[in-house]
Formats: sequence, C-alpha cells, structure tokens
Amino acid sequence: MVRCGGERRHRRTVETARARVATGKWLAGPEARDAAVRRMAAGDGTMPDMEGVVLPGNSTVEFRQVPDPVPGPRQVVVRMRASTICGSDIRAIYREHLGVGAEAYQGVIAGHEPAGEVVAVGRDCIRLKPGDRVAIYHIAGCGQCDECRKGYMIGCHAPQRAAYGWQRDGGHAPLLLAEEVTCLPLPDELTFVDGACVACGFGTAYEGLRRLGLSGRDRLLVTGLGPVGLAAAMLGRAMGATTVVGTDVSPERRRLATGLGLVDAAIPSDEHTLGAVLDATHGGVEASIDCSGAAPARILAIEALRDWGRATFVGEGGTVSLEVSRLLIHKQITLHGSWVTSLDHMAELLDRLVRWGIHPDATVSDRFPLEQAGDAYRLADQGSSGKVAIVFD
Ligand SMILES: NC(=O)c1ccc[n+]([C@@H]2O[C@H](COP(=O)([O-])OP(=O)(O)OC[C@H]3O[C@@H](n4cnc5c(N)ncnc54)[C@H](O)[C@@H]3O)[C@@H](O)[C@H]2O)c1
Ligand SMILES: [Zn+2]
Ligand SMILES: [Zn+2]
Repeated sequence: MVRCGGERRHRRTVETARARVATGKWLAGPEARDAAVRRMAAGDGTMPDMEGVVLPGNSTVEFRQVPDPVPGPRQVVVRMRASTICGSDIRAIYREHLGVGAEAYQGVIAGHEPAGEVVAVGRDCIRLKPGDRVAIYHIAGCGQCDECRKGYMIGCHAPQRAAYGWQRDGGHAPLLLAEEVTCLPLPDELTFVDGACVACGFGTAYEGLRRLGLSGRDRLLVTGLGPVGLAAAMLGRAMGATTVVGTDVSPERRRLATGLGLVDAAIPSDEHTLGAVLDATHGGVEASIDCSGAAPARILAIEALRDWGRATFVGEGGTVSLEVSRLLIHKQITLHGSWVTSLDHMAELLDRLVRWGIHPDATVSDRFPLEQAGDAYRLADQGSSGKVAIVFD
C-alpha cells in the first residue's frame, strides 16, 4: 500500500469554521460542527485533511489527503458507514483505467457504493437533516434532461453528470460530499452495508429483473455468481421465481451461492453447462440475467431460454456473437441491456427489501476498515469471495 501527500495539510483557521457556522453556510448538526471546530483548533490551528483512497490503475491502492468537504447549496456531507466494492471498480479502475465517457475514472476518491449518516446540510436542502441515514444513488446528473427527469441519472449526457467514485469523490473516505437529490432514506430495518450494496450492485440486479417483469410464473437462470449475480439470485427468489439456477467458472463462487441458499443449483461453466441447466429446469427457463460479461455465459443466458423467454445483460464489457435466427428470432426472445437503475427504482428496492425481510449484506463475505483498503481490493480482485465491504465505525 502506498501513501502519498502525507504531509500536505489544508490550512483552515478556527475563525473560518466559526464564520461558516455563524453565517449559516455550514448548517451542520451541533456535534459535527463542534468536532470540526475542535479539530481546526487543534495544534497550530491547521486542520489535517481527511484521508481517502484513490486507485492509480496498476492494481494498487493509494491514500490521498483531501480537505474535509463543505456542503454547498442543495448538498450534504455524509459520514461514511459502509462503502462496498463493485466488480466495475476492479474491471475498469483498479487493474487498469479502461473506461471512457461515463466510465472514465478521473483520479478522484474511489467507491461508488456509499451509505452513511448525514452530518451537515448546505443551503436550500429540503428533505435531509443531520442524523438521517442514507444510501446514495451513485450518479449525480444535470437534473434537467430526459433521463434525469425519469430518475435515470446514470444515463444523463450533460457535462455536469458525475458519478461518485468515477468523476467526483466517492465513498472510500470518512466524509462524502453528496447532492441531496441522490441521497435516499435508508430504512431503519436495513444496515449501512445493506444500503451500500443497493447503491450499485443490488440496484443493478433489481433493475435487470424488473426489465424482465420477473414473477412467480418464471424459472430464472443467473450466469455469473459474483456479487451482482448473488444479488440477482436473492432478488429473483424474492420476486417469486420458483426455480433459480446459477452458473460460474469459479467453484468458490458456486459454493457461496449454494451455501447462502440463493440458488437451487450452481452449475460449473464448461461445455456441459447447457445440458445441466436444461436438466435442472426441466427444459429451460422463462427468464435469465447475465451477470458475468463473458461471451459464453451471455450465449447460454439466451440458449437456455424457452420460447418467448426474456433475458437481460448487465455484465459489462467485451463482445458477443450470436446466431440471431436460431437463438433470438425463431424463439421470439426479448433481450434487454440494463444499466444501473433509477432513483425511483432504487427507493422502491429499499422499501421492498424491508417488506421481503431480506438483507443484501448476507452476500458480504469480508469487511475491512478503510486503512486496509489495499487488502480489500486485493481480495475483491481475486474473484472468489463474496461482496467485499469497507466499513467505518
Ligand atoms: N449493468 C450495470 O449497470 C452494472 C452495474 C454493476 C456491475 N456491472 C457489471 O456486472 C458484472 C458483475 O459484477 P460483479 O461485481 O458481480 O463482478 P465479478 O467480476 O465479481 O463477477 C463476475 C462473475 O462472472 C463469473 N464468470 C466469468 N466467466 C463466466 C462464464 N463463462 N460463465 C459463468 N460465469 C462466469 C466470474 O467467475 C465471476 O464470479 C461486471 O461485469 C460488472 O462490471 C454492471
Ligand atoms: Zn441530465
Ligand atoms: Zn458498480
């Protein structure tokens, strides 16, 4: 683990903090405000910056000191309680900065699955107050375009669009500056780790299954049993799928899915997979979701469908080549691509998790404090664990 910028300090005087509080620029809860003033008053009157994680793109983690955030209009500061790692962090940032456009990592504090507690609110905030528990929809859009109006800020094309942990600071630091509109109330019944899992992975799986109109009439195939696949299996069952089967190349991941009771069968990905899926489902499934991004798994997700079946691809990257007539047209297949979720559907999911009495945090196999983020990323990169979480006291 490499540390950088260790000695850099951001000079702020006690007077500055007091002025912020006095002028109402910093509408913090009394506790947060007092703590900030105390920290600024410490030592020589300068305040140590907080330390967060950045990902240089060579399979390492670095720590960088950044100033504690101050909320502007319609913004809040959230004290992080959980910040989970997504497969996209590994695929497009940690190993190598692969992304372009909306997936381009801009060297900011990483972590796009944040959940925590509001500690300060800026001017003109409407809903939130210090002490509120929130899970954060991880993209802030312009708020004005067609996609933003629908709540799909993920699809905003305006230059103002920025995703936490990609183009603006994310959740791998003690404090996160967030737009109020992206903060959804986290029900008391759910843990902060539950909330973090929903911010990308579970939200993505839910949206993908919703696109399928999944119900109790369906058998479901999940290809790829990483954290997103585990989420799809757990939610698929809750949405009524009577049989849920999963596939993965990794024996550890298959064991995990079976051990958690999320799938009726976990089938190895090899040349016998199609036959095994057809056997386990008495001739095929009505619905499938690819959570691997691997071409053979994408083809299987379509090949294992019955006539009129529906499939969603959420696994990212790569390409796939299909026999269109045999696999799609003559089987009357509907194939969806699905990217993250909307604000509305994320709020709906948080509500349904409570009603269904299920916890996304069951898929978390390993928890690390922020100081051990290097270990957390190394483990997530191995692709054999469950969801990996960074947690804060
Ligand atoms: N569409 C979206 O909005 C969205 C959001 C979040 C993540 N993602 C993507 O979803 C995918 C899954 O995310 P994750 O966090 O679970 O990642 P992950 O990399 O941990 O999981 C992928 C799993 O697929 C398995 N796999 C590889 N080849 C396979 C094959 N041929 N058959 C079956 N399984 C195979 C891997 O062993 C692994 O367990 C990633 O591509 C990620 O980038 C998409
Ligand atoms: Zn927009
Ligand atoms: Zn993600």
